[in-house]
Amino acid sequence: MRFLVIGGAGYIGSHFIREAKRQGHSSVVYDNLERGFRESIPSDVPFIKADLLDSKTLEETIKDGHFDAIYHFAAFALVGESVSQPELYYENNVEGVRVLLEAMRKLKTKSNAVLIFSSSCAVFGTPSKLPISEEDPKKPQSPYGKSKLIDEWMIEDYCYAHGMRGMALRYFNACGADKDGGIGEAHDPETHLIPNVIKAALAKETVTIFGDDFETLDGTCVRDYIHVTDLADAHIKAAAYLCAQKGAIYDAIHLGTGNGYSNLQVVKVIEKVLGMMIEQRIGARRAGDPAGLYADNRKAKKILGFTTRYSDLETIIATALAWHQEAPEGYNRG
Ligand SMILES: NC(=O)c1ccc[n+]([C@@H]2O[C@H](COP(=O)([O-])OP(=O)(O)OC[C@H]3O[C@@H](n4cnc5c(N)ncnc54)[C@H](O)[C@@H]3O)[C@@H](O)[C@H]2O)c1
Repeated sequence: MRFLVIGGAGYIGSHFIREAKRQGHSSVVYDNLERGFRESIPSDVPFIKADLLDSKTLEETIKDGHFDAIYHFAAFALVGESVSQPELYYENNVEGVRVLLEAMRKLKTKSNAVLIFSSSCAVFGTPSKLPISEEDPKKPQSPYGKSKLIDEWMIEDYCYAHGMRGMALRYFNACGADKDGGIGEAHDPETHLIPNVIKAALAKETVTIFGDDFETLDGTCVRDYIHVTDLADAHIKAAAYLCAQKGAIYDAIHLGTGNGYSNLQVVKVIEKVLGMMIEQRIGARRAGDPAGLYADNRKAKKILGFTTRYSDLETIIATALAWHQEAPEGYNRG
């Protein structure tokens, strides 16, 4: 298959490109490099440096691209930033998807590509039950989570009104790094537990755990960690599934392992893989952090044939650690 990967210079998009290539698919990356890295895109993958909101360039790219699937990874994804600057999220995340849907609608006779969208368990806010199923009530607590839910609604409406095929994949915690090295997780600021604990441990700094009074097995937050290459594989399966469908279709599917690990359990595995103790302190809870988030992944297994190869915690941490140990002093943003 041939893919247009919008946001392909970011963490998940760049891992997707690698895995797609290993499975024999070709990609074109479309990214403005605002939060991604030129170095993350393999030199033999065509790269268009452009903004998703630039509808002219986007339409030209789609029109003659002969794409089987278009992937949307191009969003802002910092919950705290979305609370202090919601305008960024409604502009980039919501308007960005509207511009893309409009381009796809207008070009329907020229491009029959399916759309696969990166959504998030943040659409649920504090979940009504665990594990979280696709149809559970959605009460996003941040502009980031709200932007993702609005995107899902827009995609669903466009699919049924205009005979398009789309899918929202709701990720739980993406983590780890490509097994072949060279790329990894480099958000700025980094808000995710695993890279932050690894970075602190390598710098011999104290790690802060946000809250130990949650109603969980040890009082710390419980999350569902899925290796980024397993996510990538599920995205390829999603394209194959949608491409085989005739007529309008939309669905939302959870991508997680279904297992929850507490912050303290994760730190323990990092200590084991590193072979050293990590200094820890307990800080205040972060605003809006639910106690537990883990996926009911039965729908992903049933519809996509979703499986995991790398998502045991030790493999996740070993691959992430290898990248942090080899990573250059920071990527060049181009
Ligand atoms: N990382 C996670 O654990 C996680 C969990 C749930 C959902 N998601 C979603 O997955 C997607 C990818 O996440 P990530 O961690 O790889 O983020 P990232 O910030 O590493 O990558 C996003 C990429 O999109 C590009 N981009 C953003 N806005 C753009 C625009 N207007 N035009 C062109 N390019 C643009 C950035 O430059 C960057 O390369 C996001 O939609 C995010 O909300 C991520």
